[in-house]
Amino acid sequence: MIDASPNHAHSESTASNGKRLATSIRNLTKDYVLKSETVRALRGVSFDVPEGDYVAIMGPSGSGKSTLLNLLGCLDQPTSGSLYLGNDDIATMTDDQLADIRSERIGFVFQSYNLIQQLSVVENIQVPLYYQGRLGAEERARAISLAERVGLGDRLDHRPTQLSGGQQQRVAIARSLVNDPLFVLADESTGNLDSVTTDEILALFDELNEEGRTIILVTHEDDVAERAKRVVRLKDGMLHTDEVISEEKRAAARDAQRAAVEELLKKQ
Ligand SMILES: Nc1ncnc2c1ncn2[C@@H]1O[C@H](COP(=O)(O)OP(=O)(O)O)[C@@H](O)[C@H]1O
Ligand SMILES: [Mg+2]
Repeated sequence: MIDASPNHAHSESTASNGKRLATSIRNLTKDYVLKSETVRALRGVSFDVPEGDYVAIMGPSGSGKSTLLNLLGCLDQPTSGSLYLGNDDIATMTDDQLADIRSERIGFVFQSYNLIQQLSVVENIQVPLYYQGRLGAEERARAISLAERVGLGDRLDHRPTQLSGGQQQRVAIARSLVNDPLFVLADESTGNLDSVTTDEILALFDELNEEGRTIILVTHEDDVAERAKRVVRLKDGMLHTDEVISEEKRAAARDAQRAAVEELLKKQ
């Protein structure tokens, strides 16, 4: 089990194994206040994520997964509790400070890609830099090299409507990497994709994690979750289980997925 003690010291931000923490949350709650009712989406969640970890968040629909990911991504503020990214206490920050942290440290990948339809592949990848007023040749070159990295080097000037779902998601991943984030957050990012494309996206996440980036993804698929190093399950807005995935199990999940993909490709 995780350490949920309320007097947990944040001063040095290290996990018990000596690794620095990418994030640390304590008694985190989030209420959505509507006219007729208040929805208690998170009811006191605590856990630590060391730098370089790869966490899959699972749980039934409505259990608070997206709410938690949005808080980790600084897209929203908690109602109570603490949320640290590195040494920074997110709960005390202004909207401007949150926007800076988002653009400097976090790459967010959404299920629905969230691409801008009027922009090309390269321009979509450059969007986060654009918000920082960075529009030079160097930035364009970086966007092009990321497009190549995700296998879209021959689609640079395509618009999102001219791409498949998997290609659009790869654009979204390239966009999430343009600021060289320490932290990649993905909400059901393979939820709309076939198994061949899912395998490609997961291979990309493996690579990003091997580079030392911390990955937290939300999924409802066991075979996706088993590619992570750890599975955290939420239930009714609370942490239900927190389980380490062995290297053997991860390798088996990789092999099973690859075998399924090869089988599929043979039939085509
Ligand atoms: N913006 C919102 N306003 C009001 N209620 C919300 C909002 N977002 C989520 N909720 C509610 O909070 C609960 C948790 O939602 P969510 O985090 O999206 O769950 P999950 O991603 O696990 O399906 C649900 O009951 C949902 O209806
Ligand atoms: Mg969700």
